[in-house]
Amino acid sequence: MSIEIRPITPNIGAEIFGANLDSESDLETINAAFVEHSVIAIRGLELTPEDHLSFARTWGEINVNRFFKPVDGYPEIATVLKEADQTSAIGETWHTDHSYDKAPAMCSMLYAKEVPDVGGDTCFASQHAAYLALSDGMKRTLENMKAWHSSRHAFGASLADEEAHQDGRLGNEAAATQDALHPVVISHPLSGKKCLYVNGDFTTHFEGWTREESQPLLNQLYAHCSRADFTCRLRWEAGTLAIWDNRATQHMAMNDYPGERRLMHRITIEGVPLS
Ligand code: SIN
Repeated sequence: MSIEIRPITPNIGAEIFGANLDSESDLETINAAFVEHSVIAIRGLELTPEDHLSFARTWGEINVNRFFKPVDGYPEIATVLKEADQTSAIGETWHTDHSYDKAPAMCSMLYAKEVPDVGGDTCFASQHAAYLALSDGMKRTLENMKAWHSSRHAFGASLADEEAHQDGRLGNEAAATQDALHPVVISHPLSGKKCLYVNGDFTTHFEGWTREESQPLLNQLYAHCSRADFTCRLRWEAGTLAIWDNRATQHMAMNDYPGERRLMHRITIEGVPLS
């Protein structure tokens, strides 16, 4: 079976079938699809944690998540888990992974181990499409603005997801000390395309503005960032590996499968400072 790329929407996302991760030419095709579609879902894999790690290392250095429970024996792989009796799902609101870091993670690689028969999809939104759809006036307003992002309120003592901290899916609160300032509109490090770069989980305020002053415009941008025509929705199957570009997308895990278990393994890859 030869590799086949099927776009999910014109703006974002592609499924990849028949990929052989040992084939140099398939790896090149996968990489090109990632640059073009920002989110790719490679179907039909059977990855051990070692396979997942060695594939990830071909993309760059691994950026170890500080707060997610690691997979036993694999500190570089984060567990993304919701048990049947748990109510909160990790990542259930729109966000960009690790935007609180000075050099935010380039991409995340999420491998589906156990998924509900129906539900538990992940939604992704193109932040290039979101930027393009802004008015010229708003583009000019945002062009030279920067915003602060922080891990403190999300993973620190205030515990945004209290249940996940109590049941041990999240931890290490004392390490939630990251604050980073990024442009509100970034030039994507690979494509040079402009992308909106604020997200509801980690952005706190605009540089030089108070939080109160920032919130109305941030709320407006968050609503805009996830407009339906910028999004795609990924339906998981066990054995799917999704890779998304954290500089070009936001994502949200659908928490719509009460009473069922969902288990994923996530690796994030180091990125670069954004400009
Ligand atoms: C995440 O936010 O990285 C997890 C997404 C998901 O579980 O679908």
